[in-house]
Amino acid sequence: MSLASRRVARLAAFSLRRSAHASTSARYNSVNADDIAHFSKFLPTSTILSTLPPQSLPSSELSPFNDDWMNKYHGQSTTVVRPRNALEVSEVVKRCNERGIAIVPQGGNTGLVGGGVPIKDELLINLGNMNKVRSFDPVSGILVADAGCVLESLSEYLAPHNHIMPLDLGAKGSCQIGGNVSTNAGGLRLLRYGSLHGSVLGLEVVLPDGTILDQLSTLRKDNTGYDLKQLFIGAEGTLGIVTGVSILTAPAPQSASNVILALPKFENVLPLFVQAKRQLSEILSAFEFFDREVYDLAIKHGQGRALSEEDVEGAECFVLMETSGGKREHDEEKLNQLLETLFESDKPLINTGVLSQSPAQFASMWAIREGLTEAVSKEGKAYKYDISVPLAKFKEVVDTTREHLGSKGLLRDDAVKHVVGYGHVGDGNLHLNVVAAAYTPEIEAALEPFVYELVASYKGSVSAEHGIGVMKTHALHYSKSNVSIEWMKRIKQLFDPKGIMNPGKVLP
Ligand code: FAD
Ligand code: MLT
Ligand code: ZN
Repeated sequence: MSLASRRVARLAAFSLRRSAHASTSARYNSVNADDIAHFSKFLPTSTILSTLPPQSLPSSELSPFNDDWMNKYHGQSTTVVRPRNALEVSEVVKRCNERGIAIVPQGGNTGLVGGGVPIKDELLINLGNMNKVRSFDPVSGILVADAGCVLESLSEYLAPHNHIMPLDLGAKGSCQIGGNVSTNAGGLRLLRYGSLHGSVLGLEVVLPDGTILDQLSTLRKDNTGYDLKQLFIGAEGTLGIVTGVSILTAPAPQSASNVILALPKFENVLPLFVQAKRQLSEILSAFEFFDREVYDLAIKHGQGRALSEEDVEGAECFVLMETSGGKREHDEEKLNQLLETLFESDKPLINTGVLSQSPAQFASMWAIREGLTEAVSKEGKAYKYDISVPLAKFKEVVDTTREHLGSKGLLRDDAVKHVVGYGHVGDGNLHLNVVAAAYTPEIEAALEPFVYELVASYKGSVSAEHGIGVMKTHALHYSKSNVSIEWMKRIKQLFDPKGIMNPGKVLP
């Protein structure tokens, strides 16, 4: 094919994509004043926010709902409704289904792939007013809660009952359990408690026609045919709106410690992980990795207390390891033995280690790790890739991406400022972050499909935990076969034949 005809072919593909998008938006009706009047029949005025009459709010009042956490994706919704229970959600959805209005379900709006904000002017259904614990059984540890409960508030609720949530993440102060379920959030405790596909026991979901699917089971075991709830875990609001969650919580550990280990080179991370698993076995509860450059950003932007100069000198990367268990003396003895082995070895895997000595130090050390996301976004505009690749390749992925951007002449203060890596070693999940001065088409074109092809070359996943959202619909095929995507489309069609539920997300 000649250069000219190749360019024509590419242009044709581009305009096809554009017109597909245009026809998608033409399929839906916008919310109008009649819809607002209809919603007002069963929703209090305080739970409807709209730039349409009679409220005529300035659009800035809707910005917290239209703009995503990174300020990368921007919707143009005119209206946000904040129902208080599943019946109200159902009534809103019924109206949208009848009128062909597209819907975006929204939790705490902390998602990192643009899934929780509209693409155009879809109706936003925000779950924040559904924030009550429905029941808790201290014997089984099973908690049933409204989907809009904030993760941290659920942890606070459980504390006096000596239980903890089976997941924890840096966004805990804002993200909601319904959002966590809908993104199948991983986070910092997955190594110990596994994924939400295991700990979620039941869901209540409003389907795209308004039907309430009550699968809010509190049974640990239930083998009665297809396990429908699994479809909604990680569906990112494309199949229905989660309104209630039944989840197995864990007994609170009686003792917990953490230690930050400074490593001279990345290659030591894996042998360290193997050794930690061997010596700590059941008390190892987190094993998180972050490179030196992102550690420096965390400290620069005030996340946690800096380690001493001595402790960071010569460190290429760090590991934050947490132990938790049932008996302080036993756990401390095991951890101390591990540290002794590490320090006394002929070929030490670590330079130094800082062991927390108080609850305040424990929290401050976690604050460094949990604050990486915030630090990166304070430093600039982050292109975030949350990928699964073999553990041994974490550094190679970061270095190859940095070299690639360098070869394009983009490693400059006014373009790409940092290429950093951190992640959940125990889960094989690397967070590759490219921190730029601004989001630009040039940087995006240099990164994509480059990063996705790199991930595919390792047979990895383009999304280990944040999901597909709007960011990666075009990249789904790097990690899913055509047959899988075809069956995902069939499932979507079955649940949502009108395609009103979070259009333009997940599926290409
Ligand atoms: P939103 O952002 O509001 O929505 C996310 C998606 O779920 C959207 O597609 C939305 O339509 C859908 N959705 C939300 N609520 C519902 C519902 N009730 N029913 C149906 N669909 C719904 N993720 C991890 O996996 N691990 C981490 O360690 C982690 N750390 C983070 C740290 C920070 C600082 C930030 C900002 C984000 C982090 N995330 C992490 C991203 C993560 O996906 C979210 O924080 C969280 O799970 C999303 O919950 P949310 O309530 O904010 O959902
Ligand atoms: C994390 O592990 O910190 C989160 O997934 C958020 C991020 O990737 O920045
Ligand atoms: Zn993560």
